[in-house]
Amino acid sequence: MRTIAVLNQKGGVGKTTTVVNIAAALAAAGSRVVVLDFDPQAHLTIHLGLEPQVVESGSYKVLTQSAEFEQQIMLMRPNLWLLPANINLVGAESELVSVVGRETILREAMLPSRDKFDYCLIDCSPSLGLLTLNALAAAEDVLIPLQPHFLALRGFGKLLQTVELVNKRINPNLKVKWVLLCMFDGRASLTNEVKDDIAQFLESAQGTDRPWSEAKILPVPIRRNIKLAEAPSYGKTIFEYEENCHGAEDYRKVAELIHAQCYPSAPVEILQPVTVNEMQEQPPDTSASSPQPDSQAEQQPDTQPAETDENQNQLPIEIKSISPEQQQQEGDSEEQPSEFTQTTTDQSGT
Ligand SMILES: Nc1ncnc2c1ncn2[C@@H]1O[C@H](COP(=O)(O)OP(=O)(O)OP(=O)(O)O)[C@@H](O)[C@H]1O
Ligand SMILES: [Mg+2]
Repeated sequence: MRTIAVLNQKGGVGKTTTVVNIAAALAAAGSRVVVLDFDPQAHLTIHLGLEPQVVESGSYKVLTQSAEFEQQIMLMRPNLWLLPANINLVGAESELVSVVGRETILREAMLPSRDKFDYCLIDCSPSLGLLTLNALAAAEDVLIPLQPHFLALRGFGKLLQTVELVNKRINPNLKVKWVLLCMFDGRASLTNEVKDDIAQFLESAQGTDRPWSEAKILPVPIRRNIKLAEAPSYGKTIFEYEENCHGAEDYRKVAELIHAQCYPSAPVEILQPVTVNEMQEQPPDTSASSPQPDSQAEQQPDTQPAETDENQNQLPIEIKSISPEQQQQEGDSEEQPSEFTQTTTDQSGT
């Protein structure tokens, strides 16, 4: 199983949309996919057509009551399972404050299920708190959706710093693999400047031991597309809502690229276009349901704790298109997290 945390502490950049639609494309093509709603806003749960008020279990129970992961997941579409969330999840951070090993509860809960899925995608909340740390401790890959405007870059350094801390202390297998440009408008010059700056920054890390040294901007950006904004209110993926729009086209291609990297030996053409009828003929089964054992090769070893060095956590990130005054402000707001449990929410991207 490949576990991918979809992460950006900035709000409204496209995390949930990305999780839903990449997962739907992968599942429709035959991969077994489980998506985890790790955001108390429960947008992932809603986007897949489930009202959070009717959710009695889900990620909150897995984190706080040691409920078995497989008993809490629901089959929402063929090959697509959901660990739902509701507002209770907001209390998980404070309830777990004195629990030893609270950052690795999810990882441990998912261990027995690693062979049963091909992919696990985690929809992180727009914060760097305990929920996100659990996601990062359980994941191998990080996908960062990013809206390429100036505000999107604020906090990028802090995000990478957090990944690096988790990589050093809890999960040495954790790597930032992909940056996905969302709500992309190629006509805006700033968009291209920001894109070039990020590409250059990532390139400069190649060959280093930084956890983002292999990260690349995915070559297919997700174009701004009104259908993507409309689909969640119908509880539908973009392939169910409007399978021929730009949004569907872009997410299908991104899913293909990710699949080709995660399972290079599996033929890429297994990703057939999703047909609306196929998806609609099988309504969500909201009873707990266990998947069958893994059909694709296991590729990642289990994670192990690692030693750390506080002094190695400096992150020199320089974004050229930001003015010196803006960089000063950026520097001011980019203190290092002193504790793993520090929460930093940034809604400025909404
Ligand atoms: N490519 C796109 N074009 C147009 N609208 C989009 C696109 N991607 C996402 N949206 C819309 O933008 C809003 C924010 O997207 P989304 O909920 O995926 O972001 P998020 O990062 O998960 O937000 P949060 O941090 O609050 O969880 C939603 O209304 C979504 O429907
Ligand atoms: Mg979201």
